[in-house]
Order: sequence, then structure tokens, then C-alpha cells
Amino acid sequence: MSANLKYLSLGILVFQTTSLVLTMRYSRTLKEEGPRYLSSTAVVVAELWKIMACILLVYKDSKCSLRALNRILHDEILNKPMETLKLAIPSGIYTLQNNLLYVALSNLDAATYQVTYQLKILTTALFSVSMLSKKLGVYQWLSLVILMTGVAFVQWPSDSQELNSKELSAGSQFVGLMAVLTACFSSGFAGVYFEKILKETKQSVWIRNIQLGFFGSIFGLMGVYVYDGELVSKNGFFQGYNWLTWIVVVLQALGGLVIAAVIKYADNILKGFATSLSIILSTLISYFWLQDFVPTSLCLSMKDWI
Ligand code: C5P
Repeated sequence: MSANLKYLSLGILVFQTTSLVLTMRYSRTLKEEGPRYLSSTAVVVAELWKIMACILLVYKDSKCSLRALNRILHDEILNKPMETLKLAIPSGIYTLQNNLLYVALSNLDAATYQVTYQLKILTTALFSVSMLSKKLGVYQWLSLVILMTGVAFVQWPSDSQELNSKELSAGSQFVGLMAVLTACFSSGFAGVYFEKILKETKQSVWIRNIQLGFFGSIFGLMGVYVYDGELVSKNGFFQGYNWLTWIVVVLQALGGLVIAAVIKYADNILKGFATSLSIILSTLISYFWLQDFVPTSLCLSMKDWI
């Protein structure tokens, strides 16, 4: 049963990450009138969807009894403030991470950012070994290095992107690189910390996700206030939302659910393999179907090795 859930959750993660990347890419090319939606508000809306979905799942687990649901939420969340507070740590780190990635993307070109961010595969393994006492053999370390290198090659900047990156100053590249490297460590730490909480305490994964989402919404609302407070007071919280925004938001919320299930039934290292597979899948779909990906000479020369 749990082996089935492991592969099912990994499969859904591949599907979810691939469709999110493609939908976001499509939403960028879609031309609509009026202001664009604010990504800071989309983060909060996705957290709220995630909380609602988790409440529904807890309701289903408590045999669809509202009374039982109410009792569980009271007993497990309100009456255990210290347990709930534990989730403020990964939630705060994920918020910091999302902001660091924003700094990274403002100072680096997208491809360099993607290539460097693959280092999180190794930081995740390092934290799994040090915090969860996982044992990795030489071949497992080697396969992680190969995975990281392979995904980095797929994302290697194309010649035109290299030209763009030359326009960025050395100082700003350094800031971007520091931000993405810090994000690699925060991604590894927050993921493994969440895994430790899930596997070493009895509370259900959905309750843990409600707690994570609760802090995520608070930190997210702080982000809306700091970054887009003025725009929201002028044009409203949902400015620029269209049907595609809602799809992206729902896919993002689904991502939170699936990542939690993957961390519970598989682990963070396998999550790295699944997201890498989805990077390769979306690259292939971009190339063959959307025809908006130009493979670089580095990527093409890899074909000769295979
Ligand atoms: O890059 P990385 O794999 O660390 O990104 C994980 C993302 O998944 C973060 O943006 C985090 O907010 C989200 N997440 C979630 N629910 C969880 C665990 C992670 O929404 N239970």
C-alpha cells in the first residue's frame, strides 16, 4: 500500500510540475488587456486553496463528520500551539527562499539561475544524511552528481541567453549567485526539516500542511503588504486575475499537497529525481510540441554520448 502511494505521489508530482511549468510559460505569452496579476497575491491564494483542500482531506479521514473534523482541528492545531509553532520554521524559510529566488532572477538570467539551482539536489542529500541519519553509498552519491549535472546541461544557457547574461554586471551576477546558493541550502534544509517532523511525530500529513499553510498565508500577506501594498489598495487584491491565473494558482496549491505526500511516502531525495524528470519532460514538450526551446550545442553534443 505505502509503496503504491510512493510511486503514485511521485508520478503526480512529475505531472503537476510539468503542467505548472507549461501553464506558466503559456500564461506569459497570452496577451490580455489590463494589469497583470500580482504574484505576491497568487502565493497567498494558493496557500488558502491548499488549506481548504487539506481540511477536506481531514474531513474525509474523519468519516465525513463535521463534529469529528472540528474536534481534530481543535485538538491537533489550536490545543497544541508548540507543535503548530514548529511549522513556522520551514514556512518562514520557504518564504525567505521564494524572496531569494526573486532576487536571484532579478540579477541572473533565467537559465543560469536554473542551472545553479540544481545544486539543491546535493544540499538536500547532505541535510538528509546529517539530520535524518540516512546512509548513501558511493553509487548513490555518484548518481546524484550525475543527475545534477544532467539537469544542469539540459538547462544550459543558449547562445542568445549568454549574450543577455553578459549585459548583467559582475556585481549583480555575484548578488544573484549568492541568493541562489543560499536558496539551495534553504530548500534542502526546509524540505528535510518538514520530512523529519512528518516522520518523527504522529500528526497526519494534512494537519501538518494546514499548519504550514497557516504560517505561509501570514508570511505571504506580509509579502503582499511590503511589495504590492500600494497596487493592491489602488486596483484590488485580485487585479489582473483571469482563468489562466486560477489554473496556475490551483496547480501551485496542488503542488504543495503533492510535495507533502511525496515527502511523507517517499523522501526529499526522490522528490529531486521526480522534479528533474519533469524538467526534462517539459523541455521535450517545449521542443517537440510548443517548438519554443532551442537546444544548445552542449545539449546536442550530449546526444553523441548516449
Ligand atoms: O525548490 P523546492 O523544492 O525547495 O520548493 C519547494 C516548494 O514547495 C516551496 O515553494 C514551498 O513553499 C512548497 N511546499 C509546499 N508545501 C509543502 C512543502 C513545500 O507548498 N508541504
